[in-house]
Amino acid sequence: CLWVRNLRLKRRLPGPYAWPVVGNAMQLGQMPHITFAKLAKKYGNVYQIRLGCSDVVVLNGDKAIRQALVQHSTEFAGRPNFVSFQTVSGGKSMTFTNYSKQWKMHRKIAQSTIRAFSSANSQTKKAFEQQIVAEATELVEIFLKLSAQGQYFNPAHELTVAAANVICALCFGKRYGHDEVEFRAMLQRVDEFGQTIGAGSLVDVMPWLQSFPNPVRSVFKNFKSLNKEFFGFVQSKVEEHRKTFDPEVTRDMSDAIIGVIDKADNDNGLTKGHTEGTVSDLIGAGLDTVSTALHWIILLLAKYPELQTKLHMLIDKVVGRNRLPSVEDRSCLAYLDAFIYETMRFTSFVPVTIPHSTTSDVIIEGLHIPKDMVVFINQWSINHDPLKWKDPHIFDPSRFLDENGSLDKDLTNNVMIFSAGKRRCIGDQIAKVEIFLFFAILLHQCSFEKCPDEDLSLNCSYGLTLKPLDYKITAKLRGELTKVQ
Ligand code: HEM
Repeated sequence: CLWVRNLRLKRRLPGPYAWPVVGNAMQLGQMPHITFAKLAKKYGNVYQIRLGCSDVVVLNGDKAIRQALVQHSTEFAGRPNFVSFQTVSGGKSMTFTNYSKQWKMHRKIAQSTIRAFSSANSQTKKAFEQQIVAEATELVEIFLKLSAQGQYFNPAHELTVAAANVICALCFGKRYGHDEVEFRAMLQRVDEFGQTIGAGSLVDVMPWLQSFPNPVRSVFKNFKSLNKEFFGFVQSKVEEHRKTFDPEVTRDMSDAIIGVIDKADNDNGLTKGHTEGTVSDLIGAGLDTVSTALHWIILLLAKYPELQTKLHMLIDKVVGRNRLPSVEDRSCLAYLDAFIYETMRFTSFVPVTIPHSTTSDVIIEGLHIPKDMVVFINQWSINHDPLKWKDPHIFDPSRFLDENGSLDKDLTNNVMIFSAGKRRCIGDQIAKVEIFLFFAILLHQCSFEKCPDEDLSLNCSYGLTLKPLDYKITAKLRGELTKVQ
């Protein structure tokens, strides 16, 4: 049978013909995840392409992806040794480091730090939620200011600052005003990070592009300098923390990580540099993803006013006008969660995970994949599989509600945006709380309208995250501004 043949001969996996030098790089197009899904129709859910000098296995569809990431979690837990990955956080990042014993320890530290500051007990839970509420109410005021006299504005950057403030407050115990120019400028640059790290970026697979001027080289140069700038910012904050460190008082995540990596007598190989690496992993991962989610949510609210009206009616019925919504309201606001899940499914705004690599030979769907192979995981293909979802190209939050109007957990579990297995996102819980609270508070306080002469497009730019193209909206206050009690 086929797989025995493939195993015995260790044959090349199925896949399109690869051209000399460039391989299939020129065929990826503007939206590689859609190209990958199209190729899966022709070659099956597990196939191989060649990008420059790198062979890449592309996994599509729920079955193949879960078989790889869950059943063969260790074999798929690696990261490729891309130059761009080594550029991040002075090479001391957990996210971009290959699988090893030391990496496992590093990930555990990052994971328990997140837990300690978001969900460890009812006190930290409350403090974390209050932080988000404060940020969301400030965002409402800024949106209203930018909408004065019916003006239209682009919400992208204010969303990035708001998301950055939540994670900076956790890491450094400090938030920044929306008008702090240097902070805004740095965030604007970090916004471009995903262009290079996203699957299908060419700098890592065509090293010769570094030797003459071309757009890929410029993007990589820019990537190196933005990493230096961002890492410099994190280093200076961590250094300030080291100077004032008191083992008796853990002020924030930086202190906690200093306590575990810098100060502890550990034989796990983690050094001081890994402290900064961990902090910048957490800040970097928490910036772009959460703000992109909110960016899509606002676009979809303005695009589908009838859904917005339905949400307004629900939130007024459950919360009323005298207080702000809170996490406790969540179970009564299933339609809000349905809207969030549908945004994640429909936009699949992290369409392909950060590239993986195999840590040993492995067989998926009967096909042999050798060790050290680069692997792209096409999350978009799961979220748009017509066999799994009715009319996958239609935005319809109610698909996630059962006949009683409750959230259908079986269906929400089918959405893949945080990946799975050993590399699954470690910020998924805090991200969900953040998105829910920002969304609920914005919705409770404002209605959003699109510019009448602008047709809101769902087109986006590709990278690690899919970002909507620039759009403008206006925010209108609904009744009186509700203050935090
Ligand atoms: C990794 C999604 C928010 C921390 C990832 C990955 C995805 C993802 C797809 C790559 C998994 C893989 O390579 O297979 C998201 C989405 C978010 C979000 C959709 C928001 C809606 C956050 C937040 C944090 C965070 C708020 C932390 C503050 C991380 C870290 C990794 C990661 C540290 C690297 C894990 C590793 O390599 O082992 N995330 N993420 N994420 N995420 Fe998130």
